[in-house]
Amino acid sequence: MSVFTRFAALTGLLGVAALAAPAPAHAQAYPSRPINMIVPFAAGGPTDIVARIVADHMSKTLGQQIVIENVVGAGGTTGATRAMRAPADGYNIIMGHMGTHAAAVALYPKLAYHPTKNFDPVGLAAGTPVLIVARKDFPAKDLKEFVANVKGNTDKINMAHAGVGSVSFTSCLLLNSIMNVKPTSIPFQGTGPALNALLGGQVDYMCDQIVNLVPHIKAGTIKAYAIGTADRNPALPDLPTTKEAGMSQFDVSAWNAIFAPKGTPKEALDKLSDALSKALDDEGVRKRLLDLGSDIPGPDRRGQAALNKLVEGEIGRWTPVIKASGVSQ
Ligand code: MLT
Repeated sequence: MSVFTRFAALTGLLGVAALAAPAPAHAQAYPSRPINMIVPFAAGGPTDIVARIVADHMSKTLGQQIVIENVVGAGGTTGATRAMRAPADGYNIIMGHMGTHAAAVALYPKLAYHPTKNFDPVGLAAGTPVLIVARKDFPAKDLKEFVANVKGNTDKINMAHAGVGSVSFTSCLLLNSIMNVKPTSIPFQGTGPALNALLGGQVDYMCDQIVNLVPHIKAGTIKAYAIGTADRNPALPDLPTTKEAGMSQFDVSAWNAIFAPKGTPKEALDKLSDALSKALDDEGVRKRLLDLGSDIPGPDRRGQAALNKLVEGEIGRWTPVIKASGVSQ
């Protein structure tokens, strides 16, 4: 049998085999299996709360479960590094925030990732105003007395936070530089566990995102002195803004947003952005986020381009604050 006849027979066979073989994986509609979402802080904290509220609804839209994986450490940069190194296949995403995807750049000169170079943006999930809070029996009735007390007792006072690079660390870096104090700082794997220590009176104060705090402030189990936004928050109408309380320099509103490893297929990014936007339009999701004091992004602040712009702006905003503080890892 000549070479050509054998060759013709072989290609014929391959042709038939190709017809019989199942369609290649990438043709299957995305998503075709559960999606892993890294939350770089402990369960029960603000980033976890926002992640679970939106992921629940996104799973329904996408027809596949979004599975939350809490990966803690180094102010959230451990989880973010893990997410950056995950396969960019649409099945790996992270709920990052103002710390992991902005402040960390200046705080960690040797950071393994860059928020816009190593991640594809999916979308902003929620704005989370930052509050100054203390244990319920802290001997100060308002922000002025709080500042005086901390200044007068800095060597006896400690401050909780969720690790260098976290929102609670970064925003209290600003607060402490305004008060010109350096109290003992106690790191936790998230402000979920830090809040437990504040409730128990083991720590004196912290800066934290509103979604972690509303029920405890309403119950009087912690004290809140002020919120770092221009206007009062409808979830806590009696809580003054830092401007009203005499510290307008403390103007801090954090945010939580979904990112994917760089190179994630556009089809997946678009479906994820769409599912997130649908979640933010859902009445039930909106009620849960608003009851916890979140700021739900309007259409102009949603989507991939808007998030990229926000991240670049926030890196520019926090880098000088951090450089001025002299703190870096
Ligand atoms: C958390 O979820 O624990 C927070 O986002 C931590 C922080 O950044 O302060």
